[in-house]
Amino acid sequence: MEVGDFEVGQCWNDVVDVLCAGITRVLLYGPPGTGKTYGALKLGTTRGVSERLVCTEDLTTGEITGTWMPTGAGKWEWREGPAIRAWSSNSGRGGRLVVDEVDRASGDALSTLLAITDSVESARWRNPETGQWVKPGPDFSVVMTTNLEDLEVLPPALRDRFPVAILIDRPHPLAVASLSDDLKGPALNGSMGEEARRVSLRSFYAFDQLRARLGAERAARILFGVESGRAIIDALSIGSLG
Ligand SMILES: Nc1ncnc2c1ncn2[C@@H]1O[C@H](COP(=O)(O)OP(=O)(O)OP(=O)(O)O)[C@@H](O)[C@H]1O
Ligand SMILES: [Mg+2]
Repeated sequence: MEVGDFEVGQCWNDVVDVLCAGITRVLLYGPPGTGKTYGALKLGTTRGVSERLVCTEDLTTGEITGTWMPTGAGKWEWREGPAIRAWSSNSGRGGRLVVDEVDRASGDALSTLLAITDSVESARWRNPETGQWVKPGPDFSVVMTTNLEDLEVLPPALRDRFPVAILIDRPHPLAVASLSDDLKGPALNGSMGEEARRVSLRSFYAFDQLRARLGAERAARILFGVESGRAIIDALSIGSLG
């Protein structure tokens, strides 16, 4: 597949093909700022809004499945969490749940994630408001993301639920479409300059915006420091000569 002048990296082809083949549990891992979360929210989802959960050490079960909220006058109302919303969205068929920074989940939250991401046949959860048992819809899918490079450190039970893990080592070409032309190539390769310093998409966006106002050299110094900033400017001017 090609987007504009740039070929889509194999990793993104794999993500799309795996999702299209009906795999509903996928783990995307790799360096920051390559579009893992963006892709997890958008790719292979035809209907509805994807639900997103960002794991931290403090994540609670309530933030995953739902929680009682005070509505005033001593009354409480049940607020469904993103995981249960994703189970039952699209008129019960289920939608996409994105679990970001999954390596940070621990304790009760991790146990709840294990239950939520279990196979459709095994997973069920009791709604405390209605007392009814709820199951994930047939189209429910989960894409988890992490910056971990070594997946061995993930809890084995979680890893086992996600047999497909794809290393995302370069941005999706559509992610660089809004950049100025001279930055598209370097952004796709994920680096600028001889030292192959990794520059995330977010830094490219910031650099593009800042250099329009402050000039390339100052923008590079502010964003990347004196040394790397200079190397980046050199690399860009060599690129433009090429
Ligand atoms: N296909 C795309 N089209 C447009 N913008 C994109 C695309 N992919 C990523 N982006 C933008 O690039 C930035 C980084 O993407 P994203 O947050 O998905 O990266 P990430 O790999 O999840 O990073 P981290 O590992 O730090 O969480 C975001 O601002 C996002 O909106
Ligand atoms: Mg992310």
